[in-house]
Amino acid sequence: MKILITGSNGLLGQKLVYQLLRTSGVELIATSLGVNRVSLKNGYTYYSLDITNKDEVLKVIDAVRPDCIINTAAMTNVDVCETDQIGCDALNVTSVKYLIEAAKKYKTHFIHFSTDFIFDGVSGPYKETDVPNPLSFYGVSKAESEKIVMTSGLDWTIIRTNIIYGVVDDVQRSNLVLWTKFSLEQGKSIHVITDQYRSPTLAEDLAEACIAAALKKATGIFHVSGSEEDIDSIINIVKKIATFYGLDQSLIKPVTSAELNQPALRPPKTGFILDKARLELGYKPHSLIEGLKIVTSQLESKAIGGN
Ligand SMILES: NC(=O)c1ccc[n+]([C@@H]2O[C@H](COP(=O)([O-])OP(=O)(O)OC[C@H]3O[C@@H](n4cnc5c(N)ncnc54)[C@H](OP(=O)(O)O)[C@@H]3O)[C@@H](O)[C@H]2O)c1
Repeated sequence: MKILITGSNGLLGQKLVYQLLRTSGVELIATSLGVNRVSLKNGYTYYSLDITNKDEVLKVIDAVRPDCIINTAAMTNVDVCETDQIGCDALNVTSVKYLIEAAKKYKTHFIHFSTDFIFDGVSGPYKETDVPNPLSFYGVSKAESEKIVMTSGLDWTIIRTNIIYGVVDDVQRSNLVLWTKFSLEQGKSIHVITDQYRSPTLAEDLAEACIAAALKKATGIFHVSGSEEDIDSIINIVKKIATFYGLDQSLIKPVTSAELNQPALRPPKTGFILDKARLELGYKPHSLIEGLKIVTSQLESKAIGGN
């Protein structure tokens, strides 16, 4: 099976590269905007591909003729999406149209990533059939992209996730676990939200669920995140991370969403009900503590591909 990934330099993208290289019967084509930042360079083909450039998208997909496309590339900084709505729309919505147009020629299975931010966070945790009501431009863009995927006529899969954490080869963007660990280790105080609830997702778990969907050709919407038992306020999650690493809790300063006043509104309580992913994808998320142990061993060994 020939699988093409977009955004292979990203947090999820890098984990997919390592895991797909270990999956038998898969020929991997990795693509991302910049130069390849995955340390391992062998065993797959890499293209620099700007998915907002229609000609480039058509050219690469015509050359590859993939059986499956996994679209992880996105503008993922929620506040940047709010302040650069044109850029957000180009990357999170219009590029999805280009990828689908190209994929249609080859009847490619299209796997797309979406977010808990399509919901308003009033009645989380959410199941796949709950009705979206995004509060931010990022959420609107992702909800819009979902509609494009669902009406594409292709075999499609949408995987919604929330707060991804993990270690990558070349960290361009931090995540909740690394930010907490590194800030507190350096003795910096951090302001952490008290009134938003999530279930953090180990990047390896998410990649594994995605590969299961590709291999089984499981179609439809799937919620994939940390487990229901790990849904908690962001401040409590950060405190658990600090406790795990034996770091100074007094540096964690509580702040409400209203006090922080970020450009984009966030849903108060999300988290996902994972029954469908468990049943159809065999999904078994690690607990937060198990995930932190994996992160620790990867930071110590500098081997992000190991799981
Ligand atoms: N991170 C989260 O907590 C979270 C939560 C919910 C949903 N999601 C969704 O999950 C997916 C993966 O997220 P992630 O955190 O792994 O993303 P990420 O680390 O921010 O990586 C996104 C990648 O997109 C690539 N990209 C940016 N502009 C591009 C362009 N014009 N053409 C091609 N590639 C481009 C970047 O490539 P270069 O590095 O090469 O520039 C970057 O590595 C996204 O769809 C996101 O919306 C993420």
